[in-house]
Amino acid sequence: MLASVAESTPPAALMRLMERGAALLAEGRAAESLELLQRAASVPDAPALAHGLLAEALEAEGRLDEALLAADRAVRSGEGAPPWLRARARIRRALGQSLAGLDDAAAAVMADPSDIESKSLLGICLSEAGRHDEALLLLHQAFSAEPGSAQRAAMLGFGFLRAGRHAAAEEVLGLAEAMAPQAPGIAALRAQNALAAGEPERAIAIAEAAVHRCAADVRLFSVLGQARQRLGQDAAALDAYAAALRLDPGSGYLRHLVAALGGDAAPARADGRYVAEVFDGYASRFEASLFALGYRVPGMMLRMIERARPEVAAGRAKLGPVLDLGCGTGLMGATLHDLLGDALVGVDMSSRMIEEARAKGVYTRLDCLDIEAALRAEEGLYDVILLADVLCYFGELAPLLRQLRARLAPGGLLLLSVEAAAPEARWTLARSGRYAHGEAYLRAALAEAGLVAREFRSEPIRWEGEDPVQGHVVCAMAGG
Ligand SMILES: C[S@@+](CC[C@H](N)C(=O)[O-])C[C@H]1O[C@@H](n2cnc3c(N)ncnc32)[C@H](O)[C@@H]1O
Repeated sequence: MLASVAESTPPAALMRLMERGAALLAEGRAAESLELLQRAASVPDAPALAHGLLAEALEAEGRLDEALLAADRAVRSGEGAPPWLRARARIRRALGQSLAGLDDAAAAVMADPSDIESKSLLGICLSEAGRHDEALLLLHQAFSAEPGSAQRAAMLGFGFLRAGRHAAAEEVLGLAEAMAPQAPGIAALRAQNALAAGEPERAIAIAEAAVHRCAADVRLFSVLGQARQRLGQDAAALDAYAAALRLDPGSGYLRHLVAALGGDAAPARADGRYVAEVFDGYASRFEASLFALGYRVPGMMLRMIERARPEVAAGRAKLGPVLDLGCGTGLMGATLHDLLGDALVGVDMSSRMIEEARAKGVYTRLDCLDIEAALRAEEGLYDVILLADVLCYFGELAPLLRQLRARLAPGGLLLLSVEAAAPEARWTLARSGRYAHGEAYLRAALAEAGLVAREFRSEPIRWEGEDPVQGHVVCAMAGG
């Protein structure tokens, strides 16, 4: 049907389709604009504008995979014009392909160095990638070009916040808030900055004032809840999370925060959307902060593997295929790289963590998937399976351990770590949102899954301030 429309659509009709579609899109009626824009984009040799508008409408409707295809066509037929590069950069960011998004934003700036919108977007991409100096330069240039724009000021404030420069962030975000006092997103950012600066009382004051002033907004209630939680005001925090959940009932992130505060029964595992949101926001700082915490699990697991496989430790043999579940930024891959002789497959829910792992160049394949879904889809057998600091997002272990045993090659090793709960506890969900496991429960879950621990070490796995965080780190094999 589209083909017949396409063949019979003359240029004037095509112009009308695009104009009407663009007008609907500008009025926020993306769903209604879609049919018109799909018709426009299906015309043979449709101009970049038709594909670009279609990409924006699909993006607004959350149909990101289709939006990316339309943006690809817009970039191709528009010969890399900045608006379509920007559209593709935004869509790629939303799909978690932030490095590819960064490349597009950079190409848009190179195509037109005076384009403020492109500079601003590139600044945000750089900021999310942890490249703060470059980000701040661009965000500042964009703000200086439009000093009366609350949005430009807010973006510069975001850049300072991400760079940990909280006083500068407060200054610019205060300015942005004065320019747009009704904008809940700006107030939420300012409150988030106060919280990150270690001032939860000020975060609460900012968020509460904005709740009265602005339209109800999930970001405001969420940051209000986190600031109250930080002060131990659990009941008030739960009220704020409940208000946020009324606005976004499907949020797995908020549901996990509520459960961690005891507002709901602890679920058997953390919602994947919680995990993805936490680690997407953390990816560029993850390794530096784990080194600062004295994180020991990769080193402990390396030594366990070397004890189990002396010939590999001595360089006379290599490991078979390795599966790194919850691989994060790839610390395990980097730690084991000289022992690898076959595939190294990484799986993680967080696309930004996966990007960091990809940059290491040691993984043969990286899948952005939930561990349980990945194991269901996986048919191969592995010589080594790793779960380093990942089971702190799972409570119930037995079903997962059974899935893992089925993927171990004969003689294969399963290495896992957990945070230690009281010995008699099965598992607990802490206020931090992380699960901990009791020793007896862990041993029973291993046995129930047909796994035998060849080493079971109970030692500190990292430090929180002066306090060691006790853990259990296990190297197991299929028994019997
Ligand atoms: C604390 S990090 C540890 C990363 C890495 N294993 C290491 O030792 O550095 C936990 C990682 O597990 C991932 N993760 C947690 N639950 C997951 C799930 N259900 N499916 C996939 N990834 C998960 C998180 O996204 C995060 O990257």
